[in-house]
Amino acid sequence: MKELRGRLGRAVVFLSLAVFVAAQVAPPYVPPVYAGQKLLDAIAKRGELSFFYGALVASRIDLTLVENVDRQPVTVFAPNNAAFQALDPELQACLQSEKGKLNILTQILTFHIAVGRNFTVDELKSVKELPTVMGMALDLEVALGGKILIEKTATIVGPNALSSYNATVHIIDDVMIPGNLVGNILTGCYGVPASSSLPMPSAGSF
Ligand SMILES: *[C@@H]1O[C@H](CO)[C@@H](O)[C@H](O)[C@H]1NC(C)=O
Ligand SMILES: *[C@@H]1O[C@H](CO)[C@@H](O)[C@H](O)[C@H]1NC(C)=O
Repeated sequence: MKELRGRLGRAVVFLSLAVFVAAQVAPPYVPPVYAGQKLLDAIAKRGELSFFYGALVASRIDLTLVENVDRQPVTVFAPNNAAFQALDPELQACLQSEKGKLNILTQILTFHIAVGRNFTVDELKSVKELPTVMGMALDLEVALGGKILIEKTATIVGPNALSSYNATVHIIDDVMIPGNLVGNILTGCYGVPASSSLPMPSAGSF
């Protein structure tokens, strides 16, 4: 009995030592990479989406995108660099300002993230409306020549450009502005009173 206890004791000491040593040499814990982060990494690597990626990071909507893709299917409409460059310079500066990033850019970007399905372009052809993370729905139609027109201003120029589990990304040629934001943009970016019914000053392609 005593002998057995002694052996058990030595075995326990040996085992704890082994666990301790193993803990010392085990590689650091790497959390699994989910679909959302993979998608974000793919967007980051796509040259023509560098402004879109920069805007996602600056507004922290990158986190919103990752969170949504990890939770449900998502369809992203990513404006290319030319679309961002076509925006009025004053509006671009406003979207890059601390206030613009949080109040306006966040809403513009979440309007480009449709939730519920990860649609391919062929599937989108039979869709008229898509709910977005921003809350307002995107309006879709098939234009002459079979191209998909979104919000009457944006055309899909890079269909099925990227996909990862739960998400598809289509590249578009315009930054889509939610209608209810126009007043905020006028006052926040151009200093025009909210009551004014003036059209947006030379605002690029929208
Ligand atoms: C994909 O979305 C489902 C819900 O539809 C979710 O349960 C799952 O975790 C997501 N998959 C990944 C890999 O993030
Ligand atoms: C859409 O996501 C599902 C998982 O939610 C996946 O099985 C499917 O391949 C995806 N479709 C596309 C077109 O990427």
